[in-house]
Amino acid sequence: MEKQKKELSIEEAYQLLENAPRENKELWIKHSVNVAIVAERLADELNLNGKRAYVFGLVHDIGRRKREHTGLRHIIEGYNYLISLGYEEEARGCLTHTFYAKNLVKPNLIKENTNLTRTEIKFILEYINKNGFNIYDKILQIADNMGSASGINTIERRRTESMLRYGITDITERNLRGIFNVQNEIENKLGYSIYTIFPEVADNITKTLIKDVVINLK
Ligand SMILES: [Fe+2]
Repeated sequence: MEKQKKELSIEEAYQLLENAPRENKELWIKHSVNVAIVAERLADELNLNGKRAYVFGLVHDIGRRKREHTGLRHIIEGYNYLISLGYEEEARGCLTHTFYAKNLVKPNLIKENTNLTRTEIKFILEYINKNGFNIYDKILQIADNMGSASGINTIERRRTESMLRYGITDITERNLRGIFNVQNEIENKLGYSIYTIFPEVADNITKTLIKDVVINLK
């Protein structure tokens, strides 16, 4: 008989966030809660397990618990942490949420400042090659791109903010196409725009001025 997989409850997931030994963890935790909200709603709408998606959202960035890991350091930290606690499915999301297709894994892993060792890069490549991306991974990818610390937004706005903050490299266009492909796949399943189920987005857009989104506007 297959061993029953250990499942992290919503309460325990919040406890892990609370216990993160870090100062200034407020922004990162707010982001995680909004990601959880988006993931749950998308999963429910797709007739999947919304509560599981909520938990995956809450802990997808748990690798940031000790410090703001630069680059992709946080994905392996989060994976190892949750595996050490016995939560395999939750750990999976930590690794898969930043890649939008199998052929985007390597170019993202070898770009500058990933802060990963060669062994870690090899592990991530092999893991994703073997496991691919399931529907919950894809939901998490979309949710991570919609939930910010301040609320729920369009993928376009979140990506633009990040491009202005971190700059645009040759992989940026491929990642952009990658995330829109994932959005397209989910919208094909739904039969309508993902934003239909997020009235918060229209609300955010009408209430926000561009100077509050793009810093250093003249
Ligand atoms: Fe995130």
